[in-house]
Amino acid sequence: MSATPDEAARALADGALILLPTETVYGLGADAGNAEAVAAIFAAKGRPRFNPLISHVADAEAAARIGAFDATAHALAQAFWPGPLTLVTPIRDASHVCDLARAGLDSVAIRVPAHPTARAVLAAFGGPVVAPSANRSGRPSPTTFADAVEETGFAVAAAVDGGDCQVGLESTVVSVLDGQTALLRPGAVTRDQIESVVGPLAGGGQGHRSPGRLALHYAPDAPVRIEATAARAGEILLGFGPGVGDPRWSLSPSGDPAQAAANLFRLLREADRQRPAGIAVSPVPQTGLGEAINDRLRRAAGFVG
Ligand code: TXA
Ligand code: MG
Repeated sequence: MSATPDEAARALADGALILLPTETVYGLGADAGNAEAVAAIFAAKGRPRFNPLISHVADAEAAARIGAFDATAHALAQAFWPGPLTLVTPIRDASHVCDLARAGLDSVAIRVPAHPTARAVLAAFGGPVVAPSANRSGRPSPTTFADAVEETGFAVAAAVDGGDCQVGLESTVVSVLDGQTALLRPGAVTRDQIESVVGPLAGGGQGHRSPGRLALHYAPDAPVRIEATAARAGEILLGFGPGVGDPRWSLSPSGDPAQAAANLFRLLREADRQRPAGIAVSPVPQTGLGEAINDRLRRAAGFVG
């Protein structure tokens, strides 16, 4: 049974956890200012406490009260909010985002989601809601209500059904700190889109650190083999493009990166349920959304990003 946004807001105010649908993936949400509730998120996910959470707010004005936004941060917010972009800025007012939510850092990650149900929950609650992806730590993020309930539904007082997540990949995380802008996690907003607003981003290794970028992440139980040209014995092949593999298991039969992103975690989960010897994945071009898709695939396969 799906909870309403009002019921979810009441659960948050009571210090309980919720399942929050967003346009990227389902989140496991709590009142960002309630340290006990935030601790319950880390416990339910089995997430290391050094990995900070994203605070979700209703609009850019609310965001700029929590974080210190310079002209670059304002420009990115203006261009991509509401939507699948997370901005990491210096913390400005920590009174509604507890230390544990930020893993003790003097910066804060903030996002204004576009999903109408997420927006309804945020409006009804009236404060920042921390929400990591609703998977248990290290597993693929849930992009359907059923998958979210299966992952961490046991821990919540209100589970809100917002349908299937249209983007299917987590938000792009960009830090704007000390006058430098860095891409910490590729995501639904592409590098080109970010650079069209802020100019060229620093190359690899130059950026700020993202504590959550563990090597093995987003991984199903079956071993994942990337850049595969054909399935080996016992493997399921997730194809990409016309005529590659079984269409039922194709990330996108037409070779559309947005469709592949929307299908990626759902198909990894469905393939895993068949208990195959392995999951093979066809090459996906690195351009546009491909950067984020390949980032998640390399991590699912256990390569250091
Ligand atoms: O699309 C999304 O972003 C989803 C939905 C639910 O909004 N949420 C999500 O949260 O993916 P999570 O916790 O799975 O990923 C948050 C990422 C982690 O890599 C974390 O390390 C990074 O954001 N992060 C959070 N605060 C940070 C900070 N202050 N500095 C650097 N990285 C930070
Ligand atoms: Mg996650």
